[in-house]
Amino acid sequence: MVAKMPWGEVRTPLCTLRDFRDTDAPALAGYRSDPEVALFQGWTPPFTEERALALIHSVRSLPFGTADSWFQVALADPLEDHLLGDIGLHFLADGFQVEIGFTLARANWGKGIAAAGLRALLDKVFVYLGKHRAIAVIDARNTAAEKLLTGVRFRQEAHFVQGAFFKGQWVDEKVFACLSHEWQIEREAAG
Ligand SMILES: CC(C)(COP(=O)(O)OP(=O)(O)OC[C@H]1O[C@@H](n2cnc3c(N)ncnc32)[C@H](O)[C@@H]1OP(=O)(O)O)[C@@H](O)C(=O)NCCC(=O)NCCS
Repeated sequence: MVAKMPWGEVRTPLCTLRDFRDTDAPALAGYRSDPEVALFQGWTPPFTEERALALIHSVRSLPFGTADSWFQVALADPLEDHLLGDIGLHFLADGFQVEIGFTLARANWGKGIAAAGLRALLDKVFVYLGKHRAIAVIDARNTAAEKLLTGVRFRQEAHFVQGAFFKGQWVDEKVFACLSHEWQIEREAAG
C-alpha cells in the first residue's frame, strides 16, 4: 500500500505539487538542516538524509486521508522537478478539518512559490476533498508565515500568549483558519 495524492500532480506556474520520492531525501534533509528554516519548526537541525527518507516512507505507509495522520506534499520546480519545499497536510480526527504546515528551502523564499502551492492545495482540500475548514498554527514571531496565510485569505482566530513551550522558552502562538465558503469567495475573486 503506497499513499498517494488521489488527484495526481498539480501544476502551477511557480511549482508542481507531487508525491515525494526517495530521491528527494537529500534536498529535504538539506533545507530542514538550515537553522533559519527550522527556527519556528518542531525539529532541530541537523536533519539527516536517513531521517528525511524515514519521513518520506512514513507518509507512504498510511492510506491518504487517514484520520489524525500527516501527509507531506512535495513542491517541485515546474521545469526541472527538483524539490523546492513541502506542505504538510494533517487530517484531523473529525474527518472534516485539516491543519496545514509549510516549508520552503531558503533560496526559494519571497518568490510567491509557497502562496501558489498553498492555493493549489487548498483548492483540492475544499473542492476535491470537500473539507469544511483548514487551520494553521504558527509561532507569533513568524511574520513570513503570517503574511503567507493572510495573503491566501486565512483569518486570525486566536493569539495564545505564551501558550507553547518551544525550544526552551514559552512562546506566543497564533491560529489562522479558512472555511470552505470563504475559499469559494477567494476563488471567485481570483478568477
Ligand atoms: C513560511 C514560508 C513558507 C513563507 O514562504 P514565502 O517564500 O515568504 O512565501 P511567498 O513568497 O509565497 O510569500 C508570501 C508573502 O509573504 C511575504 N514575505 C516573505 N517573507 C517575509 C518576511 N520575512 N516578513 C514579512 N513578509 C514576508 C511575501 O512578500 C509575500 O507577500 P506578498 O504576497 O504580499 O508578496 C517560508 O518563510 C519558510 O519556509 N519558512 C520556514 C518554515 C516555517 O517557518 N514554516 C511555517 C511553519 S507552519
